[in-house]
Amino acid sequence: MNDLILHGMIDAHVHLREPGATQKEDVLSGTQAALAGGVVGVLDMPNNTPPITRTERFAAKQALFATKAVADYGLFAGSDGSHLDQVVAMAPQAVGLKLYLDETFGDLRNREPRSLAETFEAWPGPGPIAVHAESESIRVSLDLARRYRQHLHICHVPHPDELLAIDAARQQGVTVTCEVTPHHLFLSDEAVGRLGSLAQMKPPLVSPADRDLFWDRLPLVDLIATDHAPHTREEKAAADPPPGVPGLETTLPLLLAAVDEGRLTPERMLELVYTRPLEVYGLAAPESKVVLDLSQGRYQLPMDGYHTRCGWSPFGGQWALGRVVSVTLRGRVVWQGGELLASPGSGRRLERAVSRDLP
Ligand code: DOR
Ligand code: ZN
Ligand code: ZN
Repeated sequence: MNDLILHGMIDAHVHLREPGATQKEDVLSGTQAALAGGVVGVLDMPNNTPPITRTERFAAKQALFATKAVADYGLFAGSDGSHLDQVVAMAPQAVGLKLYLDETFGDLRNREPRSLAETFEAWPGPGPIAVHAESESIRVSLDLARRYRQHLHICHVPHPDELLAIDAARQQGVTVTCEVTPHHLFLSDEAVGRLGSLAQMKPPLVSPADRDLFWDRLPLVDLIATDHAPHTREEKAAADPPPGVPGLETTLPLLLAAVDEGRLTPERMLELVYTRPLEVYGLAAPESKVVLDLSQGRYQLPMDGYHTRCGWSPFGGQWALGRVVSVTLRGRVVWQGGELLASPGSGRRLERAVSRDLP
């Protein structure tokens, strides 16, 4: 017996594709993939088809999760710059507002300076404004957060130098937090030569030297989130492949191997995947337990055979440690021996913590 018992991961950045693209993933397959990876809670992004920019779409998506999710969840509101009253109306139910300042998958964009400023001014919280922002847009969003006194969360920081810019803003009093993805930590742009479009996402992978800098500057990072962005193999093989890679089932084992190699402490790992995601989004910890079996030692991740509907992983061949044996949520075993024991709809909306102060 060599079992490791954790609370599991809270993944603050996923795309479960429902409504709109259930050939890639849906709420049930995505939350099942979460449990398979020891992820007990997911925060789902609003770049659906149609995008979650209206109250009735938000309510419909909440109803979908309420009936289908098997892990706990929170939903982001989105904005296309219009109908700000509706964006404001979604705020009490949403974990945060997601804005897209740069080009990526889907049609949601927030590039027009005036409407972007109005959106920053209007957002009432309590959740942060999370942004897809690369290079110049990071500076734009930091300025807006300073001006409108908003909590800004920078998703998938694109380059380790941006961690320095974010930290400088933080030192100057801007309330800013940030996340790094497992693909930016465990893959480099060399993977694109090997995997082609299967290793393409936004923001793109960086050089091996910059990837190492992400590790060196990990103390400046608040949390690790997967940006689980499944697309089918066929879509990835097409002429104009969509950006994005899955990550729900591989992140904890990759990080446990990194802990085993002494690249980070177990305490720091738990902060990055569990404690800090809850703090950043002001959420209460669900009662959860994840048991991982470490007895087989290190192993290489497979290329396929995953629970995510897309079925593949860009991390095939990477060293990992630990296999999820069981997941317990609120005292009920929901996942065991690779099988789902929960019924659809047993996942709960992650509740707000009593204190909203960002430590
Ligand atoms: O690679 C990405 N894929 N980056 C994003 O920002 C969006 C995501 C997706 O939804 O596929
Ligand atoms: Zn993004
Ligand atoms: Zn994303």
